[in-house]
Amino acid sequence: KKVVILYGGRSVEHGVSINSAKNIYEFIDKDKFEAIAIGISKSGKWFLTKGVSKNIEEGKALSILLDAQKPGFVIAGNEERFNVDIIFPVLHGTDGEDGSIQGMIKALDLPMVGTGVLGSSLSMNKIVAKRVLESAKLPVAKYMTFHFTQREQIKFADIKKKLGIPFMVKAANLGSSVGVNKVKKPADLVKALDDAFKYDDEIIVEEFIKAREVECAILGNNPPQASMPGEIVISKKYEFYTFDAKYVDPEAVRIEVPAKLTKAVAEKIRTLSVKAFQALRCEDFARVDLFLSGNKVYVNEINTIPGFTNSSMFPMMWKERGIGFSELITTLLTIAQD
Ligand code: DAL
Ligand code: MG
Repeated sequence: KKVVILYGGRSVEHGVSINSAKNIYEFIDKDKFEAIAIGISKSGKWFLTKGVSKNIEEGKALSILLDAQKPGFVIAGNEERFNVDIIFPVLHGTDGEDGSIQGMIKALDLPMVGTGVLGSSLSMNKIVAKRVLESAKLPVAKYMTFHFTQREQIKFADIKKKLGIPFMVKAANLGSSVGVNKVKKPADLVKALDDAFKYDDEIIVEEFIKAREVECAILGNNPPQASMPGEIVISKKYEFYTFDAKYVDPEAVRIEVPAKLTKAVAEKIRTLSVKAFQALRCEDFARVDLFLSGNKVYVNEINTIPGFTNSSMFPMMWKERGIGFSELITTLLTIAQD
């Protein structure tokens, strides 16, 4: 089977996607699958690249072939065409994880790994996702939402009254903690709003829950299976799990898989994670991020294309369950064809 690993993309998580895709390209079972790397440049152009590469635009420019028999790709400038069997979008964030690419692949009628249009767009938007989780009676942090046209009405005192301090300001549609800041005083709020509105028209402001950061990996559909939870213990140097703590500073976090939890709490996390996955119409796989404060669990968010980088939790949590990287990819590609 020919598998397209789609990577890069227009999102601010372009570089994270390259690191995820490198691992998937390396560990895909080459006896079962032929991996084809297609990179999307930061400006949204598609290229056939030699393996997964940072220099996407050095690849061969591609067009999508709308063929009534079987859609595929054509290398620009020479009539060479190739068909594909499965697409694995290893894209994070804008355009890649929000339903856009998923809609395109669906319209081409190609099998695809992962969540479809509705679940992707619900999950990517932190505001909509929160409302869906709330209506499914899942525990979430208190929050407020604002559109950029309301900027003048966003007052530190009002937020403090409703959510207490500190609180978190987040762009509604990003991942990897880009556009996310912790606010303790009015001056922080100005900076946090500048940052979040740089990326997005709408923001979510959440109470800061002093808690352990736990995550749970979900795989499959009928019913979805939950891994044992893992924990990210963040160095005191960081106020929260920032982009640098995630990917830049190797000393920033200690990862515990499985997390040290009582059986009851671990089960609560696993059950809530599956419920969140189902409420948000997720498919095939996802990683659920949660907060554990005392014995109380809050669902923070869900990632429909979780990272596969060397510091990413999704593959680590399945490894703990005895599913290695290659087997995990094979499982995803098999589910995608069902
Ligand atoms: N958004 C990043 C890639 C993650 O959730 O792992
Ligand atoms: Mg997260």
